[in-house]
Amino acid sequence: MKYLTAAASVALAAPLVAASQLVWPSKWDELEDLMTMQSGYDTRGFSDAVVTCSFGNNEQGRQNTAEWIRTGFHDMITHNAAAGTGGLDASIFWELDRAENPGAAFTNTFSFFSGFYNTRASASDLVALGVSVATGACGGPKVPFRAGRIDAGKAGPPGVPEPHTNLEKTLDAFVTAGFDNKDMVAMVACGHAIGGVHSVDFPDITGIHAEVGNDTTLPFQNDVSTFHNGVVTEFLNGKTKNPLVVAKNDTLNSDKRIFNSDRATMKKLATRTNFNSMCGDIFARMVDTVPKSVQLTDVIDPYDVKPYISELSLDSKGDLHFSGFIRMRATHGTGRNQDDLAVTLLYADRNGKGQVEVPTKRAQLQSGLTGGLNGELFVSFEFDTTIKGATGISKFLVKEITPSTKATRIHDNQKTGGYKVNDKVLYQLSTSCNQVGNSASSTITINAMVRSDCAGDNPLTLKLTQKKARKGTDVPALVVQSTAFKKTGKAPKGWVAYQVKANTDDQFARFDIALGGKNPTAVEFQSVGALPETCAKQ
Ligand code: HEM
Ligand SMILES: *[C@@H]1O[C@H](CO)[C@@H](O)[C@H](O)[C@H]1NC(C)=O
Ligand SMILES: *[C@@H]1O[C@H](CO)[C@@H](O)[C@H](O)[C@H]1NC(C)=O
Repeated sequence: MKYLTAAASVALAAPLVAASQLVWPSKWDELEDLMTMQSGYDTRGFSDAVVTCSFGNNEQGRQNTAEWIRTGFHDMITHNAAAGTGGLDASIFWELDRAENPGAAFTNTFSFFSGFYNTRASASDLVALGVSVATGACGGPKVPFRAGRIDAGKAGPPGVPEPHTNLEKTLDAFVTAGFDNKDMVAMVACGHAIGGVHSVDFPDITGIHAEVGNDTTLPFQNDVSTFHNGVVTEFLNGKTKNPLVVAKNDTLNSDKRIFNSDRATMKKLATRTNFNSMCGDIFARMVDTVPKSVQLTDVIDPYDVKPYISELSLDSKGDLHFSGFIRMRATHGTGRNQDDLAVTLLYADRNGKGQVEVPTKRAQLQSGLTGGLNGELFVSFEFDTTIKGATGISKFLVKEITPSTKATRIHDNQKTGGYKVNDKVLYQLSTSCNQVGNSASSTITINAMVRSDCAGDNPLTLKLTQKKARKGTDVPALVVQSTAFKKTGKAPKGWVAYQVKANTDDQFARFDIALGGKNPTAVEFQSVGALPETCAKQ
């Protein structure tokens, strides 16, 4: 909850680059959620491992924020700008047997990301988001997040500079990756604002005998509990204890060589303001260094208004049960007051006609408040209504009301005419189930309804995406398994009922319910974890 109380006093920094909101629904909604839903109502928990900057799962010597940032650098630095190969592509997770990638940082990082890794969140996008989130958790600058990275699926070329690598070869690696001497100094100084050198990985640098189970980390600056410029000022005033500056064996003093290669840049970095702006900028360039085949999105800004549909299903009377919530951005500076706010929905029928008003209620859990990255604050309003099955729904608008002034404002999904909802295929969540047996594997039963005018002989398919472990990396493959639904014959008038069963041993698996034919449509990205664990009698 610390983000929630902090939010009110945090002024949003002006964005450095053009940013945009997504149009809902978007395939990037999942990553937007991981970025925004960090604490409070409907939290996604992506930042749980970095709840404080110093947190390291209570393991001696470990700092998760530092590990996430280091992972971003080691993955990126083998980019070849001229050839357009490598960069932030998760190839690091295939390269952990190399001497240039020592330590537990990379395995630790992915083991936390693995629960979030799926078809909507590549391992490489998670690494990039991790850099933004870790920097934010340490009170550092905003690192704008773009999505769209594609995982390499195999190792790339080696070339991460090591402490003993000479300056010329080190600079060469940065230049090959698209950075100059100034960039190198800034990236290393910013990267070494938190964390340190571990005795278990570098006994010769730390001067501490490597002993399993007794890891001592010598920090890069006096206080690595927040992201700040001490690493620079301590160096310039000759008081640094940075182990990569003061190691007995001077060959291993890479930070000393790098920092001295451009003292003018170090002097610039010595003010708080410059340090923050230069670090935000160089970290953004670091994570946006990708193979040329990858097209990144614009910087993703949190939605001003984001709908979440929990259920659109058919009830026993043949009407539609429509429930979910609307998340309103109430961050300081948006002009929106979370205590003077009301929301309703205005939906149109299947043919786009009419405007039926649906009330919402502010969520009670956690006061409906969610805290996000960089002091973002959101407040959510829940709805739960019945829609006539005969006329259905095609879209809705969100009406925002300020009760004190009675002012109203209509939100139409970035001028696209509204938030589209499709009632051709309905996922019957409450009668579907996941029966966990006594083995790791379970059987899922999915019930769905298709509108009679859309069903015909069109195939309805369950596309279940499961993780499969593979050799050489901690990042599992995502394997799609298709199973045909069968008609059950039991449905209210106007609808056709379907059911499918499938086995899974991945409780994080996701699935789509896809209708084929001339006008294909699908209910996408549903989660096995959200299924009821007992099966209702059919
Ligand atoms: C020539 C460039 C660099 C060299 C030779 C270098 C070297 C090192 C070494 C030897 C460690 C200790 C690792 C361990 O004990 O397991 C370390 C840690 C770290 N490095 Fe670098 N580094 C370089 C550049 C960077 C850059 C550009 C970043 C990020 C932008 C970065 C981020 C980090 C972080 C956050 C840690 C702390 C990890 C922890 O505490 O677990 N490094 N680096
Ligand atoms: C762990 O290592 C430190 C640094 O060398 C040493 O002072 C300490 O006694 C060690 N602790 C244990 C339990 O061995
Ligand atoms: C210093 O480190 C380098 C690189 O690891 C090594 O080759 C050299 O032998 C070391 N020198 C001493 C005196 O230990």
